[in-house]
Amino acid sequence: MNNLILSIEFKAGKSRQQQIREKLVELISQDQFGDKALPSSRKMAQQLGVSRNTVVLVYESLVDEGYLIAQERSGFFVNPEILADQKPKLVQLRPSSNDNAPKWSERLSIAPSTYSTLDKDKAWMSYKYPFIYGQIDSNDFPIYQWRECARSAQSRNSLHEWVEDFVDDDDPELITQIRQQVLPKRGISAQADEILITMGTQNSLFMLASLLSSSKTLVGIENPCCPDFHHIFNYAGAQTRAVPVDDQGIQVGQALSGCDYVCVTPSHHYPTTITMSMERRKALLTQASKEDFIIIEDDYDSEVNYIESPLPALKSLDTEGRVIYAASLSKSLSPGLRTGYLVGDRELIKELRALRRLNYRHPPTNNQRVAAQFIAQGYHDSHIRRMRRIFKDKWQLMEQNLKLHLKSCQIHATPGSYCFWIELPKHIESEALVIKAAELSILVESGDKLFANQNAPKNFIRLGFTAIQQEKIEPGIAKLGQLIESFANTLSTPKKVG
Ligand SMILES: Cc1ncc(COP(=O)(O)O)c(C=O)c1O
Repeated sequence: MNNLILSIEFKAGKSRQQQIREKLVELISQDQFGDKALPSSRKMAQQLGVSRNTVVLVYESLVDEGYLIAQERSGFFVNPEILADQKPKLVQLRPSSNDNAPKWSERLSIAPSTYSTLDKDKAWMSYKYPFIYGQIDSNDFPIYQWRECARSAQSRNSLHEWVEDFVDDDDPELITQIRQQVLPKRGISAQADEILITMGTQNSLFMLASLLSSSKTLVGIENPCCPDFHHIFNYAGAQTRAVPVDDQGIQVGQALSGCDYVCVTPSHHYPTTITMSMERRKALLTQASKEDFIIIEDDYDSEVNYIESPLPALKSLDTEGRVIYAASLSKSLSPGLRTGYLVGDRELIKELRALRRLNYRHPPTNNQRVAAQFIAQGYHDSHIRRMRRIFKDKWQLMEQNLKLHLKSCQIHATPGSYCFWIELPKHIESEALVIKAAELSILVESGDKLFANQNAPKNFIRLGFTAIQQEKIEPGIAKLGQLIESFANTLSTPKKVG
């Protein structure tokens, strides 16, 4: 009998049976039991503080999977075939000193890790007041409905519909749902061959940039904007131009002349939240037609837009096929799903599809099928309706408290958006404020990196509210207000002489 003492710190989120099984598989593959019997189920149950039945079920399942062999009256033993299968000599992947190791820095044609990017604190959940942008409160995810769709998509009868290699195709059901349920709400009518499923808008832009850029290509990008938009096009070889945004949206006319492509966020400009006016939309389309440029519309947050009747997509006004439309489920459902879609001319979609095949063939069809069912069952729409109510309440609470506690700041607030763009008093540097706020467990984002130009204003911050719990909004904003006041006072107190 083996004398190995086992202890497991059980965690939430997985059953005890799963955690014991995981531990045993790990120990078996490390050959920790040798040819001795595993501890009896009674002893193991005592050691782990679980019922004997739990251990028996784990042992039996490991027998079923060929890890263990049950020997009558002697107990459970590791199946020797398991270990025979996996004994190559381990090689240290990164030799500590090896002059002959490849010099990666000399081989890289480009080093994307050096591109400036937003400081997204991955430990945002550890903040008491996470005014982070782009994350969701996981309690809001419609897990029961999603699980129901996942279960049904993964039923034996449905397996053949998604386990195969789709090569360059998408799940036709998801295309149908996007065509019939999602796009019409944005005023867009598209045929199946005008839609491509992607791994989110970022991926859509990457593919477009790869396909359409040359060193002569000029892409107009709103300023401020997500810095990765510049990186994506620059990486693909194109030049980018930072185009100013005013209270109507991206500036047109001279600001766009010479551009081959123009990337815009008409529903809510990222990050100032300004909605592009109808007049500006028409002017943009007219100029695109006259000067033969293409518009890439990033409709990243439209579905959950909780204004009574938001403007339809820019694409819905496009009579010449000049607008490529990109959207995703990242904001309406979850950024972790990495599911997006592109709508454009069928000739373009055909080439993008072929390009996608070269890269990753197609986004996982299991996720595509679950998303399709989720939309088909009406869960996407009902989730959106629920989120609209939640976001509307949060937005109003944010606005009230920002007006109350951040009196010295200018609050840029567009109802229906996911964040507030705040202009601090001129002399307060946002980076310094963000650091001090973090010390008080308040997570806010500096606007500095969202501007393309070096000498851009340094006194903007962005406050998201999709991830923070409603009851934290008021105290969080109040504390932030005190901090801003203390910054303002420190900076305005004249220094004593002598
Ligand atoms: C401007 C903008 N576009 C698009 C997206 C969505 O990107 P994805 O669909 O890749 O998650 C985001 C997400 O934060 C965004 O900020």
